[in-house]
Amino acid sequence: MDTNALGFRRGKSLLKLDDLSHDELFRMLRLAAELKLRKRGGVRGDYLSRRNVALIFEKSSTRTRCAFTVAAADEGGMAEYLDIHDIHIGRKETIADTARVLGRLFDGIAFRGFKQSTVEELARCAGVPVWNALTDDWHPTQALADLLTVEEHFGRLAGLKFVYVGDGRNNVVNTLMIGCAMTGMEMVDCCPLELAPDPELLHYAQGLAQKAGGSVSVCHDPVKAVKGANIVYTDVWVSMGEEAKTAERRALLKPYQVNMALMRGTGQLDRGQAVFLHCLPAFHNTDTVATRESGPMEVTDDVFEASFSKVFDQAENRLHTIKAVMVASLA
Ligand code: CP
Ligand code: NVA
Repeated sequence: MDTNALGFRRGKSLLKLDDLSHDELFRMLRLAAELKLRKRGGVRGDYLSRRNVALIFEKSSTRTRCAFTVAAADEGGMAEYLDIHDIHIGRKETIADTARVLGRLFDGIAFRGFKQSTVEELARCAGVPVWNALTDDWHPTQALADLLTVEEHFGRLAGLKFVYVGDGRNNVVNTLMIGCAMTGMEMVDCCPLELAPDPELLHYAQGLAQKAGGSVSVCHDPVKAVKGANIVYTDVWVSMGEEAKTAERRALLKPYQVNMALMRGTGQLDRGQAVFLHCLPAFHNTDTVATRESGPMEVTDDVFEASFSKVFDQAENRLHTIKAVMVASLA
């Protein structure tokens, strides 16, 4: 694989976060920050000029879908949204055949869906870079936005205490374990025993952390876990595709709700040294169909709306980091 002018491997896919080397991860964050500055300065780029990208979505999305679309347009490219129900993939046509067709028409493919094996099969067969826009296992473009948001706020990553509280084995926390490990943070995955991360993944992340001077651990006590935390992060208790488990998860995760008492327990709020993050969408009030009767879940409204909540910075950073990912592969 040859290297482009920006120093990235041309044509490379991003199927999970550690497809990036340690060095590439940091350069990707730099590139995203640069692209953000350019956009803020009103400069329209042309890194993706004459590039067409396909966005195959098997699950719903607001941020990721829109970030890919706007990012492509900002850099002179074009994105075509393909709802899985509107194309033949997996029904009248194999994943491999769809990949080979789209690879002839498009310069890159983003995929969001259930199985990690689907995005891997697309990458194997398409002949163009494929980007994981979320699977059951990983959410790499989310973690890039999260790292950028943390770095913007604190001016660094290494040495910060990053505590994830909630479902400790979903796509978002799996990826954060890798991202925090690679960047030398002190990462704690705080979750009930029943929702603990895969031991093999934990072991792997701990190895990465050791190399970068950080740590990754699991804790089942939220009060203990958040002490000294700079970042308290949560995600939905029920990920897409797990809706049947809603009642069970509510019961299991109630003690892990991020509320004001838990945020105060960081001991860092008064010093301005703690932020709240959430990948969104979030169940923080009773204004959604899902929470109208049952109330908020993973985070209370006062935390979500607090000045230390940086969730909309995170959401914006999805655009700049996804743009960097496409530019790195295609420029
Ligand atoms: N955080 C995130 O991936 O949001 P969407 O599901 O709206 O894309
Ligand atoms: N864990 C969540 C993330 C949504 C962005 C899900 O998979 O539904």
